[in-house]
Amino acid sequence: MKSKLNIGLIGAGRIGKVHGETIAFRVPEANLLAVTDPNTDAATAIAKRCGIPQVCASTDEIFANKDIDAVLICSSTNTHADLAVQAAEAGKHIFCEKPIDHTLEKIDRAIAAVNKAKVKMQIGFNRRFDSNFARVRQSILSGEIGTPHLLHIISRDPGPPPISYVKVSGGMFLDMTIHDFDMARFLIGEEVTEIYAAADVRIDPEIGKAGDVDTAIILLRYANGVIGTIDNCRQAPYGYDQRVEVLGSKGAIATENMYPNRAVVSTAESVRRDLPLNFFMERYLDSFEREVRDFVNAVVNDTETPVTAADGRVPVVMALAAKKSYLEGRPVKLSEIA
Ligand SMILES: NC(=O)c1ccc[n+]([C@@H]2O[C@H](COP(=O)([O-])OP(=O)(O)OC[C@H]3O[C@@H](n4cnc5c(N)ncnc54)[C@H](O)[C@@H]3O)[C@@H](O)[C@H]2O)c1
Repeated sequence: MKSKLNIGLIGAGRIGKVHGETIAFRVPEANLLAVTDPNTDAATAIAKRCGIPQVCASTDEIFANKDIDAVLICSSTNTHADLAVQAAEAGKHIFCEKPIDHTLEKIDRAIAAVNKAKVKMQIGFNRRFDSNFARVRQSILSGEIGTPHLLHIISRDPGPPPISYVKVSGGMFLDMTIHDFDMARFLIGEEVTEIYAAADVRIDPEIGKAGDVDTAIILLRYANGVIGTIDNCRQAPYGYDQRVEVLGSKGAIATENMYPNRAVVSTAESVRRDLPLNFFMERYLDSFEREVRDFVNAVVNDTETPVTAADGRVPVVMALAAKKSYLEGRPVKLSEIA
């Protein structure tokens, strides 16, 4: 394997742009050789901005390119599993955005193809690479706060996505909470066994008409007795709200939101500060860099990727359990799903 990894970018939407720019400007260990998207204007714009030499008419061209070692699958979720199978069959290592798919059948097919081809696969659960959440994980691993008892994850978006996105997203649990399900496993280092979800449409009736919810509290019970909550809303008027707290036998650890500055304005009326960083593109920029760099290193050094294909499957099981719990109004064991 060459020391510099040659990458093909699949998908030039929001996250494709983030990853394209990350590799071009922040990860010198990798090289973007080609990009493809049915929206050729979007692909051409990224190619121009990031200095990518080739805009391909299709993913087949990317898979056929012998110089490409790995692909970043950043296209819409419904394409991930099939593209992962094709990439594996073409011998390309795979970084795949979350979730791999909405169905376990297609996820299992993709994982089987990856295992058969002996290529690497990493799933885009970038929050593990955020320095705040990594510190929480470290405190639990080291025993700094003792035995964990309670976990609280607050994860609220600044505003809902377009209805067109909602309709193909698989629903809030599979699209948005999926990151929190991954965090729940990562932070505590233990599996969740039971999920109870209370959810509703509080923000936009159109989301309800599309068959989805926009607000939820999800209760998690872990195999080791830890109890957790995830607090989700598609709209927080003050911006992106991403916080975590863990209470353990020796203390607690909590993270705050990230701000564009640390200035505090004091007047006769109030003491105030500016709003938090507005959304994932700003808030998680550093984590996107770390996850891609670790993927590149895993391929170059032939080590396991830090977020494996199996790590991509479990949160989907959790999301399906949450959906079932919400629909049936009862706690659901993960064993009922997997
Ligand atoms: N990790 C994160 O924080 C994060 C953030 C946003 C999105 N995502 C995930 O990334 C994926 C894309 O989300 P987005 O917000 O960028 O969506 P988007 O709609 O902005 O972009 C998706 C792009 O994929 C393209 N596309 C569709 N089919 C394709 C194909 N077969 N080959 C190549 N390109 C194709 C579309 O034309 C579009 O340009 C989703 O799976 C989403 O869940 C992850």
